[in-house]
Amino acid sequence: MTLSTEFMGLKLKNPIIVAAGPWSRNGEMIKKAFEAGAGAVVTETIVNEVNSDIRPRIAFDGRGVQNIRLYSDILIEEWQNEIKIAKSRGGVVIASVCAQTPSEIKYIATKMEKMGADAIELGLASPMGEGIEVLASNTEKVYELTKAVVDSVNLPVMVKLSQNVSNIAKIARAVEKAGANGISAIDTVRCIIGVDVKNRRPYLPTYGGYSGGPIKPLGLASVATIAQSVKLPVCGIGGIETGENVLEYMMLGASTVQIGTFLMINGFEHIDKIKRELLEYMNINDIKNLSEIRGVALNKLKAFDEISVEPKTARIKKEECYENECKKCVKCCVYGAIEMKEDKIMIHKEICRGCGLCCDICPSNRIELIWD
Ligand SMILES: Cc1cc2nc3c(=O)[nH]c(=O)nc-3n(C[C@H](O)[C@H](O)[C@H](O)COP(=O)(O)O)c2cc1C
Repeated sequence: MTLSTEFMGLKLKNPIIVAAGPWSRNGEMIKKAFEAGAGAVVTETIVNEVNSDIRPRIAFDGRGVQNIRLYSDILIEEWQNEIKIAKSRGGVVIASVCAQTPSEIKYIATKMEKMGADAIELGLASPMGEGIEVLASNTEKVYELTKAVVDSVNLPVMVKLSQNVSNIAKIARAVEKAGANGISAIDTVRCIIGVDVKNRRPYLPTYGGYSGGPIKPLGLASVATIAQSVKLPVCGIGGIETGENVLEYMMLGASTVQIGTFLMINGFEHIDKIKRELLEYMNINDIKNLSEIRGVALNKLKAFDEISVEPKTARIKKEECYENECKKCVKCCVYGAIEMKEDKIMIHKEICRGCGLCCDICPSNRIELIWD
């Protein structure tokens, strides 16, 4: 039983990659991630012009995070030393780079290759400023920038995609055509985390990127679409917090995953916990290598017009429910099929439309859908 995996020709000790962000902003931080057991680390995105130091730039709403930080504040030349520090104890370093033109991006990527990076990730998917319109959703531009890097380095090249586009499959195909070795998805999702109504202003002064637990469903959908559209290996990103979340991405086609926000908030030591959870799952299910479960849920993911209507209705599982105070199922049933009668929950089969909501709403997991 092993967590080790091969991704874009890179040999990784495990599939947990630390995503690009301020937690990987320099050599020391990257080294810490390796010491905590990361399979690889992506640097914070390296650009030609370092950005101004926006303060504040990260907001947390108790579930997810909005950030308006724009890339690395370390100059390209200075990354030489950072990569040296990062690799001082071994470990796969993926340099994240971004630029607007083929010549610029080629310049940064070749510099990173010379400095000892093991792979390149093109961070073309940031939702800050006009990022989505100008780069992430511009198929020709993504193709052009990817091709420029693929043609100029001898390293595996992965392209990071955005969920904020109308057709992610089309962008993924352009990346494949340009000769990239892998795709990672997703970057943060354009957001405004909230408005301070007392002071009548948004919590952060500009649009930002949302990340953490709440974006997992968006990441899963993007990864599944990419896996169904191209043959390239996929690295799943977005809202991963547990070993089970890693498995979800893998069952929808990901070979590896990246984690950012959860580690930023809870610490790199959680990498070990996630690895233990994966090993436990493998042990229980007699799995020798995680590649055995890659994409296993994809064939159960049907196109909308392929799904058949199953004549299922809700019913209370074995024990009756007398939770007078709760009544959550009664309140949420938009079809009026559930009522509290003589202190007992009753589901009217003939009215129930089998939507399934009550099963998930019930706090004691007492309702299930069954065939008629
Ligand atoms: C504070 C912050 C800074 C980030 N900086 C970068 C970056 O420099 N380059 C990049 O490609 N992605 C960046 N990201 C996006 C993450 O790499 C990742 O794609 C996203 O947060 C979703 O994963 P998560 O939910 O595990 O955080 C950043 C995210 C956050 C929260």
